[in-house]
Amino acid sequence: MIYRPRRLRKNPVIREMVAETQLSADMFIYPYFVVPGTKVVQPIDAMPGISRLSIDMLLKDVESGLKLGINKILLFGVGEKKTGEAQSAYDAHSVVADAVRALKKRFGEELYVITDICLCAYTTHGHCGLLEKDVILNDPSLEVLAKMALSHAQAGADMVAPSDMMDGRIKAIRTRLDENGFENTSIMSYATKFASAYYGPFREAADSAPGKGDRKSYQMDFRNPREALREAKLDEMEGADILMVKPALAYLDIIRLVRKNTTLPVACYNVSAEYTMVKMAAKAGFIDEQRIVMENMYAFKRAGAGIIISYHAREILAKAWL
Ligand code: PBG
Ligand code: ZN
Repeated sequence: MIYRPRRLRKNPVIREMVAETQLSADMFIYPYFVVPGTKVVQPIDAMPGISRLSIDMLLKDVESGLKLGINKILLFGVGEKKTGEAQSAYDAHSVVADAVRALKKRFGEELYVITDICLCAYTTHGHCGLLEKDVILNDPSLEVLAKMALSHAQAGADMVAPSDMMDGRIKAIRTRLDENGFENTSIMSYATKFASAYYGPFREAADSAPGKGDRKSYQMDFRNPREALREAKLDEMEGADILMVKPALAYLDIIRLVRKNTTLPVACYNVSAEYTMVKMAAKAGFIDEQRIVMENMYAFKRAGAGIIISYHAREILAKAWL
C-alpha cells in the first residue's frame, strides 16, 4: 500500500495540523426578538433558550453577550400594531428603532447592529409585502420597505437585512439610504430565501405567520438552484454588500453555488426549525448537542459561508465549543 490516509489521522496534533476548515467567533451573528414594554422575558416554546425581550432586558443580554464575543446582532421586532399597510414598521419609534438607539447609545461601535427589514410582523395579513385581494403587491411594497430601512438607519443601524423577497428591494433601499445620507449603512440581502417549512418556530416567535395562503409567490421554490443564482446576481447588481442563503442546512449546495459565483461575502441563516430540531432531539437525549451543532457549523463553513447567523451562536461561545 502506497497511500495510507490514516497516517494523517494518527493523533489530535496531526489532525489539527491538517484540518482544512476553521471557524472563528467573528463569523457569528446572533438574532434577537424585541418586544415593547419593560422587564419582558417571554421564552419561545419551540425554541428552547431563546426569548422575546423588551429593550431593557435586551441591553442586559447584549452586555453579557459582548463579553463572550457576540458583537454582531440581528434584530426582529415583535408585538407591534398590525395594519393593512404596516405603518408601525417604519415608525420612528418602532420597537426596533428604539432598540437600535438604546444599543448604540450604550455600546457604540463595540456592537454591530443589523435589523431585519420585512413587513410580515407588521401586517394584519402576515405577508411580507402589501396585499390586495389575494396578490402580494411588489412595487408598492418597495416604498414601505425603503421607509422601514431608512427609519432603522436613522436610529443608527449599521446594516439592514431585507428578508421580504420583493423584486427590486435592494435597489429601492440602497437608493433611499443614499438619498438621505446613509451611504455607509450596509445591506445584507436575504438573496436566496426559499419558501421553507423550516421557518415554522420563527413565525410563532415573531407572530408573523400569514393568515391566509403561503409565501410561495415571493419566496423561492427549493427545486431551483439556477434561479437562486439569478436572485443572488440581481441583488449583487442592485448593491447588496453581503449575500445570504436561507435556510442553511438543507441548502449547502446553494451556499456553495453562490460562493463560487460572487466575490461578495456569503452568509447563511441557520434558521429556527434547524435549531429546534437539534434542541429537541438533544433534550430527549437522542443526540450529543455540542457535537451535532459543531458538525453543522463546520458544514456551513465548508460549503462556503463566511458568516453564520445562528440561534446557537451564544451557546457556542459561552461554552467554548469552538
Ligand atoms: C421574515 C423572516 C422569516 C425569517 C427571517 N425573517 C420568516 C419567514 O419568512 O416566514 C425566518 C428565520 C427563522 O426561521 O429563523 N420574513
Ligand atoms: Zn416577512
